[in-house]
Amino acid sequence: MSILEKVKALVHHEAPGAPLELDDIQATVLFDRPDPYFGTHVLLRFDSAAGGRALLGSLAPHVRSAADARDNTEAWIAVALSHAGLRALALDEALLASFPAAFSAGMAARADRLQDTGPNAPETWEAPFAGGQVHLAVSIFAPDEASWQAAMATAREQFASMRDVTVLASHDFGAQPDSRNAFGYRDNISNPAIEGGTADTWPGQGRPIKAGEFILGYPGEAGVPLAQPGTESEPLGRNGSYVVLRKYHTDVAGFNRFLREHGGDADGQELLAAKLVGRWRSGAPLTLAPERDDAALGKDRQRNNDFTYEDDQEGLKVPHGCHMRRMNPRDSKLAILTDVNLHRLSRRSTTFGPPYDPNLLEDDGAERGLFFIGLSAKAAETMEFMQQEWINHGNFIDLGEERDPLVGQQPDGATFTLPERPVRRRIHGIHSFCTLRGGEYLFMPGLRALRRLGGLDG
Ligand code: HEM
Repeated sequence: MSILEKVKALVHHEAPGAPLELDDIQATVLFDRPDPYFGTHVLLRFDSAAGGRALLGSLAPHVRSAADARDNTEAWIAVALSHAGLRALALDEALLASFPAAFSAGMAARADRLQDTGPNAPETWEAPFAGGQVHLAVSIFAPDEASWQAAMATAREQFASMRDVTVLASHDFGAQPDSRNAFGYRDNISNPAIEGGTADTWPGQGRPIKAGEFILGYPGEAGVPLAQPGTESEPLGRNGSYVVLRKYHTDVAGFNRFLREHGGDADGQELLAAKLVGRWRSGAPLTLAPERDDAALGKDRQRNNDFTYEDDQEGLKVPHGCHMRRMNPRDSKLAILTDVNLHRLSRRSTTFGPPYDPNLLEDDGAERGLFFIGLSAKAAETMEFMQQEWINHGNFIDLGEERDPLVGQQPDGATFTLPERPVRRRIHGIHSFCTLRGGEYLFMPGLRALRRLGGLDG
């Protein structure tokens, strides 16, 4: 790509305030999955450029746009490609070089920046991750089992009829009763509001964030769009977004043992579980229900995210180091000055495995966990920042080397600090409850770009 083309790609943008081109944006970028949900992530490899393009062309008409996403009564699919996938489509080098370095390298190659070492290192990942084989991820989301099965039958037929395309893996997922995740918490409550988006907004989301932080081609928080991949003649980036996909295995038995060892009686264990996350398992935030759970609050979307940390700067209700406060410190006073709104991801994570069992104390070998899925116009950069600063470090909240109690990779002797009066309580012996089993950086193209990649009219 010539310097001139690069500059043009950088400055090519709409005037501030231009409406979002909803019919060109994949629904998943702006809309959360249904609740409850059923679905499957299918990971594929293109064995020839023609095969890959034919598959994209056949999938494109089924990918839901944000303009069609108002009601969640039908199944929909979303698609995203890795850089290796774009290369396998034989895109020209200038186009391939216009993507950001982290995405182009792929998640495994960025393990040092992500601090994915030891048990989380790419060498330990499951196939097909880490081998550069994952070219395309197709996610099918459905609001009920029947529409999921119907959509899957169509997808399977399509994959089977394609030449030169290999299905590498197929992972089913689905919320557990009451929208719980593998550790038994109601999940996906808090997500950023996106300016110009048409999804419902809820009290407590904070001011809407400029669309360009999530969708390529629109002004971001700095007033200009983030760099877009593509060239003048091939504006591949427009209305696209980036995706971080990370498959975590959850050690539920170890988590339950930890709660029993350090939480005391049943109520104390639930309180400790709430302190680790910042919410009770019902979803009720500790800021609004500091002493006991409030199940009605937990499921009330008008109230369950409507809080700030203004009255809890000491962390007496919500520990500074808990998962939720680390991942979005909101208005917490931080030891390292940070614009929190520049480090947001839209989460579309999906849970898999058997429902949470509070009495599981020995690992039963079952596959259970969570596909963390985070979207933004700079998702890889944000994920790397979070891993380095907010997940595997504590300096930003004056906690030295202490790590995120839920997803941090804990060294021997790790601690979790609970601010209390007169003296804080420090729990020793916290261990890693999540292990990374694989992941990839993906690009979720706009629908016109997808059609062009699939050899259809752009
Ligand atoms: C197995 C892994 C994980 C589990 C079980 C988990 C669980 C949870 C739970 C229960 C909540 C509270 C519900 C909510 O506010 O939506 C939450 C919030 C959140 N998590 Fe995770 N999480 C996991 C991994 C991650 C990772 C890897 C990241 C980011 C890199 C992340 C980012 C967030 C964010 C941004 C919030 C919302 C915070 C807020 O806006 O207040 N999570 N997570």
